[in-house]
Amino acid sequence: MEGLLKPCINLQQKPGGSHFVHNHVKFREVIKGSSVRRLPILPAKKRMLRTNGLRVFVLSDLHTDYSENMVWIKGLSVMNYKNDVLLVAGDVAETYEMFVYTMSLLKDRFHGVFFVPGNHDLWCRRKGEKYHDSLAKLSALLDACRELGVETSPNIVDGVGIIPLFSWYHESFDREKDITGVAIPSLKMACKDFHACKWPKNLSSKDLSLAKHFDDINAKHTDATNGIVSRSKQIITFSHFLPRPELCPEKRMLFYPNLPKVIGSDYLEARLRTLHGIHGSPHACHMFGHTHFCWDIWLQGIRYVQAPLAYPRERKRGMNGGAEWLPFCIFDSENGGLPPKLSECYWSDYYTSHKREPDNTQLAPWVAKYYSRRK
Ligand SMILES: [Fe+2]
Repeated sequence: MEGLLKPCINLQQKPGGSHFVHNHVKFREVIKGSSVRRLPILPAKKRMLRTNGLRVFVLSDLHTDYSENMVWIKGLSVMNYKNDVLLVAGDVAETYEMFVYTMSLLKDRFHGVFFVPGNHDLWCRRKGEKYHDSLAKLSALLDACRELGVETSPNIVDGVGIIPLFSWYHESFDREKDITGVAIPSLKMACKDFHACKWPKNLSSKDLSLAKHFDDINAKHTDATNGIVSRSKQIITFSHFLPRPELCPEKRMLFYPNLPKVIGSDYLEARLRTLHGIHGSPHACHMFGHTHFCWDIWLQGIRYVQAPLAYPRERKRGMNGGAEWLPFCIFDSENGGLPPKLSECYWSDYYTSHKREPDNTQLAPWVAKYYSRRK
C-alpha cells in the first residue's frame, strides 16, 4: 500500500508489512458492509482475440525501469490486441532509451497507441541524458513517438474521439485542510520531481505557471479537438495527473498527507467540462494515472478511471489487486461501449458509500501509527 505515498515521493517509509496489512484489513472490514458491490474485473488473459469492432484499453504508470514491469510488458500478447487501441497515461520510464523501447513493444502489440507524459518521463537526473531541461526531454519524447507512430494529439479511431491532455500539477490544486501535529517532510524532501526535473526559471508548480504551460499545449489543438468532439459520440480523454481532488483519498488516509499538493491540475477539469459538457454525458470518460490507486467512478456525468501497473512492491502487497486485470478495457464497440458497471476499486468503492470529510484531520489508524513510530 505504498501508493498511499506516491510515485514521486522519496520519503523512506515502509508501512510495516503485516502490521500495516492488518490495520488495512481491519479498515476494509469496517467499510465492507456499506461499500457498493461491483463486478470483478475480467482478467486480461481471458479476453479473446476478435476480428471485429474496436476496443480501447488503458494503462498508466508502467515504470519499466523496474525489470518486473518490463517483463510484464513483454508478456502482453502479440496477437490479442492487434485491432485495439491502448491509451498510455504517463510514467512509462525514467530514461529516454527505456521509454523508446517500451513504446516500441506496445506499438508492436496494439493497432494504435496514444501517450501523454508523466513526471517520471521528464526526469533528467541520469548520467548520459544531457537534456537542457525537462522541456527539452519532452520534445525528444514527442519526436520519438512521432517516429514510432505513437499518437500524442487528438484523433478519431473508428468513430471514437481520443483526446490526450497534457498536464502538470500545481500546489493550489489542494484545497483541503492540512494535517498538523505530526512531522510531515516538506514537498522538496519527499518528492523526487523537485530534484529530477529541470524547468526554466519562469515555470514552477508552486504557482500556476507550470500547469498553465502544459495546458497551453492542449490549447494548440483546440480546433482539431472541437472537430473531433462534434463528430464523435464517444469521447475518451486521458491525462497523467488528476483533474479533481476527489480522485485521491483524503489526506488523513495517506502516509504522506501532503500528496494532494503534487498530483493534479484544475486546468484539466476545466478542459474536461469543455469537452464532455458541463454535466458530462453517458459517453463521457476520462482516464488518469500518477497516484497508483485504481479508480472507477462517475462524478458529475464523467466516468473517471485509473488503471496503474504501479511498482512491483505495490503489486506484491496486493495493491490494486495485482496486474491480471491490466490493461483495462474501457471501451468495447461490440459490447455497448463503456463497461455498463463500475469495476471493483478499493478507494472509489469507499467514496461511493462514504462522504468525503475534507475538514477531518484525524489520522487513519495506520497513518497515526506510522507517524508515532517516526517520533
Ligand atoms: Fe506520476
